[in-house]
Amino acid sequence: MTNTKEFDKTTTIGFLGAGNVGGSLAVAMSNAGYPVIAAGSRTFASAQAFADRIPGCTACENIQDVADRVDFVFISTSDDAIRTVCDQVSWRQGQGVAHCSGAASVDILQSAADQGAILGAFHPLQAFNSVENGVKAIPGVTFGIEGDDGMQSYLRGMASDIEGIPISLRPQDKVLYHISGVLMGNLLAVLGSVAASMWEKFDHTRDEGVRALAPMMPAVAANLASAGVPQAVAGPYPRGDIGTIRKHLEAISSSAPEYLPLYIELALVGLPFAVEKGALAPARSQEIKELLESYRVTIE
Ligand SMILES: NC(=O)c1ccc[n+]([C@@H]2O[C@H](COP(=O)([O-])OP(=O)(O)OC[C@H]3O[C@@H](n4cnc5c(N)ncnc54)[C@H](OP(=O)(O)O)[C@@H]3O)[C@@H](O)[C@H]2O)c1
Repeated sequence: MTNTKEFDKTTTIGFLGAGNVGGSLAVAMSNAGYPVIAAGSRTFASAQAFADRIPGCTACENIQDVADRVDFVFISTSDDAIRTVCDQVSWRQGQGVAHCSGAASVDILQSAADQGAILGAFHPLQAFNSVENGVKAIPGVTFGIEGDDGMQSYLRGMASDIEGIPISLRPQDKVLYHISGVLMGNLLAVLGSVAASMWEKFDHTRDEGVRALAPMMPAVAANLASAGVPQAVAGPYPRGDIGTIRKHLEAISSSAPEYLPLYIELALVGLPFAVEKGALAPARSQEIKELLESYRVTIE
Protein backbone atom coordinates (compact mmCIF):
# COMPACT_ATOMS: atom_id res chain seq x y z
CA MET A 1 0.00 0.00 0.00
CA THR A 2 1.33 3.44 -0.83
CA ASN A 3 0.90 6.17 1.76
CA THR A 4 -0.13 9.68 0.86
CA LYS A 5 2.48 11.39 3.02
CA GLU A 6 5.77 12.10 1.28
CA PHE A 7 8.98 12.25 3.26
CA ASP A 8 12.02 13.88 1.70
CA LYS A 9 15.32 15.55 2.57
CA THR A 10 13.52 18.52 4.12
CA THR A 11 11.51 16.34 6.55
CA THR A 12 12.50 17.19 10.12
CA ILE A 13 13.99 14.26 12.06
CA GLY A 14 14.18 13.41 15.74
CA PHE A 15 15.79 10.51 17.58
CA LEU A 16 14.55 8.69 20.67
CA GLY A 17 17.45 6.73 22.14
CA ALA A 18 20.79 8.53 22.10
CA GLY A 19 23.16 5.58 22.00
CA ASN A 20 25.75 4.26 19.57
CA VAL A 21 23.48 3.54 16.62
CA GLY A 22 21.25 6.59 17.01
CA GLY A 23 24.25 8.87 17.41
CA SER A 24 26.13 7.38 14.44
CA LEU A 25 23.13 7.48 12.09
CA ALA A 26 22.19 10.99 13.15
CA VAL A 27 25.68 12.35 12.46
CA ALA A 28 25.75 10.62 9.07
CA MET A 29 22.27 11.92 8.19
CA SER A 30 23.14 15.44 9.30
CA ASN A 31 26.38 15.35 7.28
CA ALA A 32 24.29 14.28 4.26
CA GLY A 33 21.97 17.27 4.64
CA TYR A 34 19.03 15.76 6.55
CA PRO A 35 17.65 18.06 9.28
CA VAL A 36 18.15 16.17 12.55
CA ILE A 37 16.71 18.70 14.96
CA ALA A 38 15.71 16.92 18.20
CA ALA A 39 16.91 14.12 20.45
CA GLY A 40 15.61 12.49 23.59
CA SER A 41 16.79 9.55 25.63
CA ARG A 42 16.33 7.82 28.95
CA THR A 43 18.81 10.28 30.45
CA PHE A 44 19.10 13.92 29.49
CA ALA A 45 22.92 13.64 29.55
CA SER A 46 22.83 11.19 26.62
CA ALA A 47 20.43 13.39 24.68
CA GLN A 48 22.66 16.40 25.29
CA ALA A 49 25.82 14.56 24.17
CA PHE A 50 23.93 13.47 21.05
CA ALA A 51 22.72 17.02 20.30
CA ASP A 52 26.20 18.47 20.87
CA ARG A 53 27.46 16.49 17.86
CA ILE A 54 24.84 17.82 15.46
CA PRO A 55 24.43 21.45 14.39
CA GLY A 56 20.86 22.65 14.92
CA CYS A 57 19.87 19.71 17.14
CA THR A 58 18.13 20.27 20.47
CA ALA A 59 18.22 17.88 23.42
CA CYS A 60 14.75 17.42 24.90
CA GLU A 61 13.86 16.52 28.46
CA ASN A 62 11.07 14.19 27.45
CA ILE A 63 10.36 11.98 24.49
CA GLN A 64 6.98 13.54 23.63
CA ASP A 65 8.75 16.84 23.12
CA VAL A 66 10.92 15.22 20.45
CA ALA A 67 7.93 13.69 18.67
CA ASP A 68 6.05 17.02 18.78
CA ARG A 69 8.92 18.90 17.13
CA VAL A 70 9.53 16.67 14.11
CA ASP A 71 7.79 14.92 11.22
CA PHE A 72 9.90 11.76 11.39
CA VAL A 73 11.11 9.91 14.50
CA PHE A 74 13.77 7.23 14.66
CA ILE A 75 13.48 5.02 17.73
CA SER A 76 17.04 3.93 18.40
CA THR A 77 16.65 2.63 21.94
CA SER A 78 17.69 -0.87 22.96
CA ASP A 79 15.37 -3.47 21.37
CA ASP A 80 13.46 -4.15 24.57
CA ALA A 81 12.50 -0.49 24.99
CA ILE A 82 11.24 0.18 21.44
CA ARG A 83 7.64 -0.89 21.99
CA THR A 84 7.45 0.83 25.39
CA VAL A 85 8.81 4.09 24.00
CA CYS A 86 6.49 3.91 21.00
CA ASP A 87 3.51 3.26 23.28
CA GLN A 88 4.39 6.28 25.43
CA VAL A 89 4.23 8.78 22.55
CA SER A 90 1.14 10.50 21.17
CA TRP A 91 1.65 10.26 17.40
CA ARG A 92 0.24 12.51 14.70
CA GLN A 93 -1.55 11.42 11.55
CA GLY A 94 1.02 11.07 8.76
CA GLN A 95 4.04 11.29 11.06
CA GLY A 96 6.84 8.84 10.24
CA VAL A 97 8.35 6.48 12.79
CA ALA A 98 11.06 3.89 12.22
CA HIS A 99 13.07 1.71 14.58
CA CYS A 100 16.63 0.46 14.08
CA SER A 101 16.33 -3.13 15.25
CA GLY A 102 17.37 -5.97 12.97
CA ALA A 103 15.38 -8.65 14.75
CA ALA A 104 12.05 -6.90 15.26
CA SER A 105 9.60 -6.08 12.53
CA VAL A 106 7.52 -2.90 12.15
CA ASP A 107 4.67 -4.53 14.03
CA ILE A 108 6.17 -3.47 17.38
CA LEU A 109 5.25 0.09 16.37
CA GLN A 110 1.56 -0.80 16.02
CA SER A 111 0.42 1.76 18.63
CA ALA A 112 1.81 4.52 16.36
CA ALA A 113 0.03 3.07 13.32
CA ASP A 114 -3.22 3.03 15.31
CA GLN A 115 -2.87 6.82 15.62
CA GLY A 116 -2.19 7.27 11.89
CA ALA A 117 1.61 7.25 11.88
CA ILE A 118 3.50 5.60 9.01
CA LEU A 119 5.82 2.79 10.05
CA GLY A 120 9.30 1.81 8.96
CA ALA A 121 12.41 -0.04 10.02
CA PHE A 122 15.95 1.06 9.20
CA HIS A 123 18.59 -1.42 10.29
CA PRO A 124 22.29 -0.92 9.60
CA LEU A 125 23.94 -4.32 9.22
CA GLN A 126 27.08 -3.32 11.07
CA ALA A 127 28.58 -3.62 14.56
CA PHE A 128 28.52 -0.28 16.42
CA ASN A 129 30.49 0.19 19.63
CA SER A 130 30.81 3.99 19.68
CA VAL A 131 29.55 6.98 17.75
CA GLU A 132 33.06 7.90 16.58
CA ASN A 133 33.73 4.45 15.09
CA GLY A 134 30.12 4.05 14.00
CA VAL A 135 30.11 7.12 11.76
CA LYS A 136 33.27 5.90 10.03
CA ALA A 137 31.82 2.40 9.64
CA ILE A 138 28.62 3.44 7.81
CA PRO A 139 29.89 3.80 4.20
CA GLY A 140 29.31 0.51 2.39
CA VAL A 141 26.97 -0.86 5.06
CA THR A 142 23.80 -2.67 4.01
CA PHE A 143 20.57 -1.24 5.43
CA GLY A 144 17.64 -3.62 5.90
CA ILE A 145 14.51 -1.57 5.25
CA GLU A 146 10.84 -2.24 5.93
CA GLY A 147 7.78 -0.14 5.25
CA ASP A 148 5.18 0.72 2.65
CA ASP A 149 6.19 2.12 -0.74
CA GLY A 150 6.50 5.74 0.39
CA MET A 151 8.47 4.78 3.50
CA GLN A 152 10.75 2.45 1.51
CA SER A 153 11.45 5.15 -1.02
CA TYR A 154 12.43 7.66 1.70
CA LEU A 155 14.56 5.24 3.72
CA ARG A 156 16.22 3.76 0.64
CA GLY A 157 17.16 7.26 -0.52
CA MET A 158 18.47 8.08 2.95
CA ALA A 159 20.58 4.90 3.07
CA SER A 160 22.12 5.78 -0.30
CA ASP A 161 22.72 9.38 0.77
CA ILE A 162 24.75 8.22 3.78
CA GLU A 163 26.71 5.88 1.46
CA GLY A 164 24.91 2.72 2.55
CA ILE A 165 23.37 -0.01 0.41
CA PRO A 166 19.59 -0.34 0.90
CA ILE A 167 17.81 -3.67 0.70
CA SER A 168 14.08 -4.27 1.20
CA LEU A 169 12.94 -6.81 3.76
CA ARG A 170 9.54 -8.34 4.39
CA PRO A 171 8.45 -8.65 8.03
CA GLN A 172 8.84 -12.44 7.88
CA ASP A 173 12.48 -12.07 6.71
CA LYS A 174 13.70 -10.13 9.70
CA VAL A 175 14.74 -12.84 12.13
CA LEU A 176 16.73 -14.89 9.60
CA TYR A 177 18.33 -11.69 8.31
CA HIS A 178 19.27 -10.76 11.86
CA ILE A 179 20.72 -14.21 12.57
CA SER A 180 23.05 -13.74 9.60
CA GLY A 181 24.20 -10.44 11.07
CA VAL A 182 24.69 -11.90 14.54
CA LEU A 183 26.69 -14.81 13.11
CA MET A 184 29.00 -12.41 11.29
CA GLY A 185 29.06 -9.43 13.65
CA ASN A 186 28.79 -11.03 17.08
CA LEU A 187 29.48 -14.76 17.01
CA LEU A 188 32.51 -14.25 14.79
CA ALA A 189 33.93 -12.18 17.65
CA VAL A 190 33.20 -15.13 19.96
CA LEU A 191 35.03 -17.42 17.53
CA GLY A 192 37.93 -14.95 17.53
CA SER A 193 37.92 -14.99 21.33
CA VAL A 194 38.05 -18.80 21.35
CA ALA A 195 40.88 -18.81 18.80
CA ALA A 196 42.85 -16.31 20.93
CA SER A 197 42.15 -18.32 24.10
CA MET A 198 43.80 -21.34 22.47
CA TRP A 199 47.09 -19.48 22.88
CA GLU A 200 46.84 -19.91 26.66
CA LYS A 201 46.95 -23.66 26.06
CA PHE A 202 50.46 -23.46 24.62
CA ASP A 203 52.11 -21.12 27.10
CA HIS A 204 51.25 -17.77 25.52
CA THR A 205 48.70 -15.18 26.51
CA ARG A 206 45.28 -14.52 25.08
CA ASP A 207 46.42 -10.99 24.20
CA GLU A 208 49.28 -12.42 22.17
CA GLY A 209 46.72 -14.58 20.45
CA VAL A 210 44.58 -11.56 19.63
CA ARG A 211 47.59 -9.72 18.22
CA ALA A 212 48.57 -12.68 16.09
CA LEU A 213 45.10 -13.65 14.89
CA ALA A 214 43.21 -10.36 14.45
CA PRO A 215 45.10 -9.43 11.24
CA MET A 216 43.75 -12.64 9.71
CA MET A 217 40.17 -11.35 9.94
CA PRO A 218 40.44 -8.62 7.28
CA ALA A 219 42.21 -11.11 5.01
CA VAL A 220 39.44 -13.67 5.48
CA ALA A 221 36.83 -10.97 4.83
CA ALA A 222 38.67 -9.83 1.70
CA ASN A 223 38.84 -13.42 0.43
CA LEU A 224 35.15 -13.90 1.10
CA ALA A 225 34.26 -10.62 -0.61
CA SER A 226 36.41 -11.29 -3.67
CA ALA A 227 36.10 -15.07 -4.12
CA GLY A 228 32.66 -15.66 -2.55
CA VAL A 229 31.21 -18.91 -1.18
CA PRO A 230 32.51 -21.61 -1.46
CA GLN A 231 35.80 -20.50 -3.04
CA ALA A 232 36.87 -18.58 0.07
CA VAL A 233 36.69 -21.73 2.22
CA ALA A 234 40.29 -22.85 2.76
CA GLY A 235 42.48 -24.95 5.05
CA PRO A 236 42.88 -28.63 5.93
CA TYR A 237 39.21 -29.47 5.30
CA PRO A 238 38.99 -28.60 1.58
CA ARG A 239 42.50 -30.03 1.24
CA GLY A 240 41.24 -33.28 2.74
CA ASP A 241 44.21 -33.41 5.14
CA ILE A 242 42.76 -36.07 7.39
CA GLY A 243 46.04 -36.64 9.25
CA THR A 244 46.12 -33.01 10.34
CA ILE A 245 42.45 -33.12 11.27
CA ARG A 246 43.04 -36.21 13.44
CA LYS A 247 45.90 -34.40 15.22
CA HIS A 248 43.59 -31.42 15.85
CA LEU A 249 40.93 -33.62 17.37
CA GLU A 250 43.40 -35.43 19.64
CA ALA A 251 45.01 -32.17 20.82
CA ILE A 252 41.79 -30.28 21.41
CA SER A 253 40.27 -33.26 23.25
CA SER A 254 43.15 -33.36 25.70
CA SER A 255 44.13 -29.68 25.97
CA ALA A 256 40.97 -27.68 25.28
CA PRO A 257 37.97 -30.03 25.57
CA GLU A 258 35.69 -27.07 26.27
CA TYR A 259 36.15 -26.02 22.63
CA LEU A 260 35.83 -29.49 21.10
CA PRO A 261 32.05 -29.27 20.40
CA LEU A 262 32.48 -25.91 18.66
CA TYR A 263 35.38 -27.22 16.57
CA ILE A 264 33.55 -30.36 15.53
CA GLU A 265 30.26 -28.67 14.65
CA LEU A 266 31.91 -25.87 12.67
CA ALA A 267 34.04 -28.37 10.78
CA LEU A 268 31.00 -30.54 9.99
CA VAL A 269 29.01 -27.54 8.76
CA GLY A 270 31.96 -26.56 6.56
CA LEU A 271 32.36 -29.91 4.76
CA PRO A 272 29.59 -29.34 2.16
CA PHE A 273 31.24 -26.04 1.17
CA ALA A 274 34.56 -27.83 0.66
CA VAL A 275 32.81 -30.40 -1.55
CA GLU A 276 30.90 -27.70 -3.45
CA LYS A 277 34.21 -25.94 -4.09
CA GLY A 278 35.35 -29.04 -5.90
CA ALA A 279 38.38 -29.34 -3.62
CA LEU A 280 37.16 -32.23 -1.47
CA ALA A 281 35.94 -35.51 -2.96
CA PRO A 282 32.58 -36.67 -1.51
CA ALA A 283 34.13 -39.95 -0.31
CA ARG A 284 36.91 -38.08 1.52
CA SER A 285 34.32 -35.74 2.99
CA GLN A 286 32.39 -38.73 4.32
CA GLU A 287 35.58 -40.13 5.89
CA ILE A 288 36.27 -36.79 7.63
CA LYS A 289 32.64 -36.56 8.72
CA GLU A 290 32.83 -39.97 10.39
CA LEU A 291 36.10 -39.05 12.11
CA LEU A 292 34.60 -35.81 13.44
CA GLU A 293 31.44 -37.58 14.59
CA SER A 294 33.47 -40.22 16.43
CA TYR A 295 34.92 -37.43 18.59
CA ARG A 296 31.43 -36.00 19.03
CA VAL A 297 30.45 -39.28 20.69
CA THR A 298 33.35 -39.07 23.17
CA ILE A 299 32.08 -35.77 24.55
CA GLU A 300 28.47 -36.86 25.00
N1 LIG B 1 25.05 -1.99 18.35
C1 LIG B 1 24.93 -2.54 17.17
O1 LIG B 1 25.90 -3.09 16.65
C2 LIG B 1 23.64 -2.44 16.40
C3 LIG B 1 23.67 -2.63 15.02
C4 LIG B 1 22.50 -2.46 14.29
C5 LIG B 1 21.32 -2.13 14.94
N2 LIG B 1 21.31 -1.99 16.28
C6 LIG B 1 20.03 -1.62 16.92
O2 LIG B 1 20.07 -0.23 17.23
C7 LIG B 1 19.28 0.00 18.42
C8 LIG B 1 20.14 0.71 19.44
O3 LIG B 1 21.27 -0.06 19.74
P1 LIG B 1 22.61 0.61 20.32
O4 LIG B 1 23.70 -0.38 20.12
O5 LIG B 1 22.76 1.99 19.81
O6 LIG B 1 22.26 0.64 21.86
P2 LIG B 1 22.88 1.60 22.99
O7 LIG B 1 24.19 2.17 22.56
O8 LIG B 1 22.79 0.84 24.24
O9 LIG B 1 21.86 2.80 23.02
C9 LIG B 1 20.53 2.64 23.38
C10 LIG B 1 20.03 3.98 23.85
O10 LIG B 1 18.66 3.84 24.13
C11 LIG B 1 18.37 4.62 25.25
N3 LIG B 1 17.21 4.06 25.95
C12 LIG B 1 17.09 2.83 26.53
N4 LIG B 1 15.87 2.70 27.06
C13 LIG B 1 15.21 3.86 26.81
C14 LIG B 1 13.92 4.34 27.13
N5 LIG B 1 13.04 3.60 27.81
N6 LIG B 1 13.59 5.58 26.72
C15 LIG B 1 14.45 6.35 26.01
N7 LIG B 1 15.71 5.96 25.70
C16 LIG B 1 16.07 4.73 26.10
C17 LIG B 1 19.59 4.59 26.12
O11 LIG B 1 19.54 5.79 26.83
P3 LIG B 1 20.53 6.44 27.91
O12 LIG B 1 21.87 6.52 27.27
O13 LIG B 1 19.92 7.76 28.08
O14 LIG B 1 20.50 5.56 29.11
C18 LIG B 1 20.71 4.48 25.11
O15 LIG B 1 21.29 5.73 24.83
C19 LIG B 1 18.77 -1.37 18.86
O16 LIG B 1 17.48 -1.56 18.34
C20 LIG B 1 19.75 -2.35 18.22
O17 LIG B 1 19.19 -3.62 17.97
C21 LIG B 1 22.43 -2.12 17.04
